[in-house]
Amino acid sequence: MSGDIQIRPLNGPDEVGAAFRVFLRAMVGLPFRDLDAAELTEPGRYLGALDSGQIVGGADSYTSWLVVPGGARVPHAAVTHVGVLPTHRRRGIVRDLITRQLRDVAARGEVVASLRASEAVIYERFGYGVASSAQSARVTLKRATLRAEVAAGGEVRLVDGGVTSELLDGIYRQAAWTGAIHRPDGWWRLAQILRDADSTSHYVVVHRTDGVDDGYAIYRPENTGGWFTSPEKVVTVSDFVALNDNARAGLWRHLLALDLVDVVAFDSLALDDVLPLAVLDRRSVALGPAHDETWLRLVDVEAALRARTYDSDDPVVIEVRDAVLPANNGSYEVSAKQTNLTNSDPDLTVDVATLAAAYLGGTRWRHLAAAGRVVAHTPEAVRRADALFGTASHPYAGTVF
Ligand SMILES: CC(C)(COP(=O)(O)OP(=O)(O)OC[C@H]1O[C@@H](n2cnc3c(N)ncnc32)[C@H](O)[C@@H]1OP(=O)(O)O)[C@@H](O)C(=O)NCCC(=O)NCCS
Repeated sequence: MSGDIQIRPLNGPDEVGAAFRVFLRAMVGLPFRDLDAAELTEPGRYLGALDSGQIVGGADSYTSWLVVPGGARVPHAAVTHVGVLPTHRRRGIVRDLITRQLRDVAARGEVVASLRASEAVIYERFGYGVASSAQSARVTLKRATLRAEVAAGGEVRLVDGGVTSELLDGIYRQAAWTGAIHRPDGWWRLAQILRDADSTSHYVVVHRTDGVDDGYAIYRPENTGGWFTSPEKVVTVSDFVALNDNARAGLWRHLLALDLVDVVAFDSLALDDVLPLAVLDRRSVALGPAHDETWLRLVDVEAALRARTYDSDDPVVIEVRDAVLPANNGSYEVSAKQTNLTNSDPDLTVDVATLAAAYLGGTRWRHLAAAGRVVAHTPEAVRRADALFGTASHPYAGTVF
């Protein structure tokens, strides 16, 4: 416990601004000093930790949704701006903030929460597990020829200068891949502010199939100081959104055909992104490193388990342990037919963070079991859980917040 520290929602732009400055101090290296935090946050969702009235820590979240296997969008709290002043750390302040935040999220009826972690050792104790990962990629253009069978793509137009977040949001909000999250207004505002503040140009191309916008990419040149004479000109794609295979191919065709450019680097791709399968020279696409992306918290375990689809009618009873939100403690019978709380003996016992790691299909139960994170009570239970939870694609968000 953090002693005399008061945890409560922050009120008004002054408190929110003060909490945001605490967050920037805690994060040490973030660049955006002059932002109006009240413009980026949602009223009532930013929690503060106050020591004698002074804000010394905070934890914020956005209203969002998350796409789960089968395509349902579940209510989701996108947790962000977590920080505690260096003068107040390791006194239990973040524990109190996150515990209160999870209770608030549950009370709001949000089924899951997720975050991007600055360090990988903080959030598992609060029930967060790594549910999706992402990887970077570098494509060497002189070796990267698309296979003849790759879709032709549609029309690509450059919209930099006149680009509006509404245009991109209109495309992105149709995202239907497992792991995609709603990008709130504050996210779009911040992305625009950061692009506008950057002295390097950011280019936006929008793809259209049969008259309908169905993808876009945002890219920027690297190291423009020496651009004219640089022997290796690199363009980095910071946001790549394709709603279908034709849009993906059309955007590749634009990027891989950029004159002047030697390397196209992608900040973030799904672990099973198909680009390496679409080029003639597999080594033209250098993948990695992979890194943890979605840290997922199942806030209402029963609702979360019910919201996704399963591939097997053979039920598995999973006993869940949740020290922070004890309402989740119990055994759940899970199958494609139905998912319910049950009094039956469990096949498996896990903590809620481990269940979150398996929930989107990004981590196999057998791998979690091999790591000692699953207690199996019946033979074949792990194999049957894998048959249930397996998904066709790796989960992937593609959004940093
Ligand atoms: C990470 C941070 C928020 C932790 O705040 P804090 O108030 O010091 O954390 P607490 O005292 O409540 O610690 C809770 C537990 O987490 C552990 N912990 C907290 N931060 C940790 C870290 N960086 N590394 C390892 N363990 C950590 C504590 O040891 C404690 O462990 P316990 O459960 O065994 O008691 C704070 O150090 C910070 O602001 N860091 C920089 C900003 C940052 O990384 N923010 C997260 C953005 S995603």
